Amino acid sequence: MSKDAVLEVRDLHVFLDEKEIIKGVSLKVKQGETHVIMGPNGSGKSTLAKSIMGHPKIKVTKGDILLNEKSILGLGPDKRAKLGLFLEFQNPVEIDGVGFINFLHTAKQSLSGGGVSTKELMTEIKESIANLKLSEDFIGRTLNQGFSGGEKKKTEVLQMSVLKPKIAILDEPDSGLDIDAVKVVSACINRIAESEHMGLLLITHYSRILSYMKPDVVHVMVNGKIVDEGGTELIEKLEKSGYDSYLKADGAKK
Ligand SMILES: Nc1ncnc2c1ncn2[C@@H]1O[C@H](COP(=O)(O)OP(=O)(O)O)[C@@H](O)[C@H]1O
Ligand SMILES: [Mg+2]
Repeated sequence: MSKDAVLEVRDLHVFLDEKEIIKGVSLKVKQGETHVIMGPNGSGKSTLAKSIMGHPKIKVTKGDILLNEKSILGLGPDKRAKLGLFLEFQNPVEIDGVGFINFLHTAKQSLSGGGVSTKELMTEIKESIANLKLSEDFIGRTLNQGFSGGEKKKTEVLQMSVLKPKIAILDEPDSGLDIDAVKVVSACINRIAESEHMGLLLITHYSRILSYMKPDVVHVMVNGKIVDEGGTELIEKLEKSGYDSYLKADGAKK
């Protein structure tokens, strides 16, 4: 059996357009583990996700991001994906004229170095479509065009189930979903993560989706820093008192 992948963020500092957004974040996610990052709007969660995937606008000024103890900072997003990382965007983009199936086939070919059978891929896609309770006519559609918010989110989970990354970063997979869809999507994420032995870094600012997921570690992020870490008991604490106490403590330090 091959060794489990480990993603490590080490004392990361990141600037976006001349402003420091990530101010010294460290965390380690192993394949098979589920980590959650919670934090108020604007605390830098999406920026952290984009930093891990190598978004071109991100400027790392200090620290490192490593996969299996090797720095990936010098690699572009495509190379990082080939190594087994996956990012589900908070706001998925529409891609003009690219058929959904074509997109998945190309992505999978590129990740696996070719040889992907269209027939097997279709079987896999149909299975995921049924699991996600999407309609079959999805197969003929253009990526994300005219998709509802919920459908976009579901297609991202579909991508994850087809591409089978070692470690997936999910940035608010519950945003824009109604209560039933949150259940369907989280059940799918759980099933794929378990059957593929995936590591998950789940970002959210609501605890709703967490009633369906079983995180091993919860990190609380405020103003570009991890201000608390623990188990699921932290979710209950946040449910009761929100982020106020963290925000006040952060403000008092300045
Ligand atoms: N392209 C950008 N240029 C400059 N600042 C940005 C940019 N995108 C986001 N920010 C700022 O970075 C901070 C963190 O944003 P973000 O990472 O999206 O937070 P979160 O995902 O936790 O809501 C916010 O203050 C936001 O205004
Ligand atoms: Mg965000």
